[in-house]
Amino acid sequence: MADGSVAGERAQFREMMEGTQEDWNIIAEHSRIFNKGLAKRVLDHLRLLDGDYGGFPVDRLEHSLQTATRAHRDGRDEEYVVCALLHDIGDTLGSMNHPDVAAAILKPFVSEENLWMVANHGAFQGYYFFEYLGLDKNMREKFKDSPHYQRCAEFCHKYDQAAFDPDYESEPLEFFEPMVERVFSKPKNSMYLRKKDPSA
Ligand SMILES: [Fe+2]
Ligand SMILES: [Fe+2]
Repeated sequence: MADGSVAGERAQFREMMEGTQEDWNIIAEHSRIFNKGLAKRVLDHLRLLDGDYGGFPVDRLEHSLQTATRAHRDGRDEEYVVCALLHDIGDTLGSMNHPDVAAAILKPFVSEENLWMVANHGAFQGYYFFEYLGLDKNMREKFKDSPHYQRCAEFCHKYDQAAFDPDYESEPLEFFEPMVERVFSKPKNSMYLRKKDPSA
């Protein structure tokens, strides 16, 4: 089964309560194969931002590439750069809460501080424009006691709010693909991860 020979097999149950070990061996093997394609699916979704300007000087894919490129050129580690690349991936399906979407996708694969940074960057980014929309530009202050406040403020200041320059030479998406593959190949936090046998 480890060779993926279950490709055409299906579980036999009509209700989960009828499921057998054999059924779940089939599903688990399909899942193992499917999960290997996660990075590619995420990248395909990110490509939906191509050509989506929303009135900004650059489209949302270029903004994402520029944010990641700036972080990479500033010496940030791979996980941080992947977070920078994907921080706005929720713009397509989460118009009213886009940071939550990116955070949900990244949650199993990144550290607590990077997850917090992605999840809350919307309020911190607002420091640079919320007053023009009748919102509180200091909304980020509600997080002033968080240990991750400075990390998120720095992300927005150095990379996110700075990534709207049409003349900046960003790396192409292909440059970041191996990084995304590596980060998404090592889940750290998921209820679907089995606990390691401490005697092993
Ligand atoms: Fe954003
Ligand atoms: Fe952004």
